[in-house]
Amino acid sequence: MNHTAKMLRDNALKGKTIVVTGGGSGLGKAMTRYFLELGANVAISSRDLEKLENTAKELEQETGGKCLAVQCDVRHYDEVEAMLKTVLDNFGQVDVLLNNAAGNFISPTERLSANAFDTIIDIVLKGTKNCTLAFGKHWIDTKQKRSKVLNIVTTYAWTGSGYVVPSAAAKAGVLAMTRSLAVEWAKYGMQFNAIAPGPFPTKGAWDRLLPGNLKDKFDMAKKVPLNRVGEHQELANLAAYLVSDFSSYINGEVITIDGGEWLKGAGEFNILEDIPQEMWDQLEAMIRAKKDK
Ligand code: HXC
Ligand code: NAP
Repeated sequence: MNHTAKMLRDNALKGKTIVVTGGGSGLGKAMTRYFLELGANVAISSRDLEKLENTAKELEQETGGKCLAVQCDVRHYDEVEAMLKTVLDNFGQVDVLLNNAAGNFISPTERLSANAFDTIIDIVLKGTKNCTLAFGKHWIDTKQKRSKVLNIVTTYAWTGSGYVVPSAAAKAGVLAMTRSLAVEWAKYGMQFNAIAPGPFPTKGAWDRLLPGNLKDKFDMAKKVPLNRVGEHQELANLAAYLVSDFSSYINGEVITIDGGEWLKGAGEFNILEDIPQEMWDQLEAMIRAKKDK
């Protein structure tokens, strides 16, 4: 078995209906594929209906599952309510909301217009709020138990990061919402968790975060102690576990899946990785020599 093998048992998600925002591309598509393979019904939503329909068709053919494409710009609450209604009309119920839709691009903050800043906050934070509020109210009204919300954040939700400040601020808000509602809405039978991925190459992210030759200049694998980027199936395995009944006692948690990337940047002396092995005898001798002086 290798690290890209599929983790959960057959039919682990049978009988569940899962909504994946931003499910037409990238990581949302990878998670959707695995949820379908595990027997869930999945609705994917985003702004681009044609892209969603193509993805739904491709994944249905590949997995034999049921995938519904629903157009919805998460920035608009009325569109989110309409999306929820369409999902309920088609599948009769909804069990899991996966807030995965996002917008992002690199820029020095002083170059951003107020609207550019708002655009990212609106997709990431307000979009997640819109979906969470609409789905949460539905679950409360219908007294449905055992529902789950899974939010995709990033590790800079807690470290912060220059050059993606609107995204960092918005993801931090999403993480705060995850932890807050994990407590407040537990009484309604809802669970809230988050995943913080490190670098997982996707077209959407790489075109906006590593345009042109930045891909070659900044090899993301080199920032990771394990010396590689993530494989989509590794993330899909974690997401499937967190939306399944196997994780019923995990609530309010954020699980990092980044090969140790953010800790490498954080640890004061991790830069000593660059010291050649043969220098350590010399360094140790220098330190010991100071002992008795
Ligand atoms: C400065 C920019 C800009 C740029 C857009 N704007 N791109 N400003 N530098 N590169 C400004 C525009 O001029 C405009 O402001 C405002 O932002 C809105 O731009 P629009 O193009 O009108 O917005 P819209 O069509 O809604 O598109 C949203 C978008 C776009 C975020 C700008 O990139 C998008 O659709 N993204 C969705 C997918 C995505 O981003 N995926 C990556 C997620 S990766 P003005 O003032 O001119 O009106 C991710 C990974 C994190 O989150 C961690 C990785 C390790
Ligand atoms: P992606 O393919 O660009 O995914 C973003 C999705 O969001 C797209 O499908 C997009 O679809 C959708 N979207 C954007 N604006 C929307 C809106 N207003 N309403 C509804 N949907 C909208 O990039 P990705 O890399 O897979 O990112 C997926 C998630 O992982 C994001 O939350 C991102 O922050 C997170 N993440 C990614 C990485 C990474 O290395 N890739 C690392 C950390 C976190 P439309 O354009 O059709 O609307």
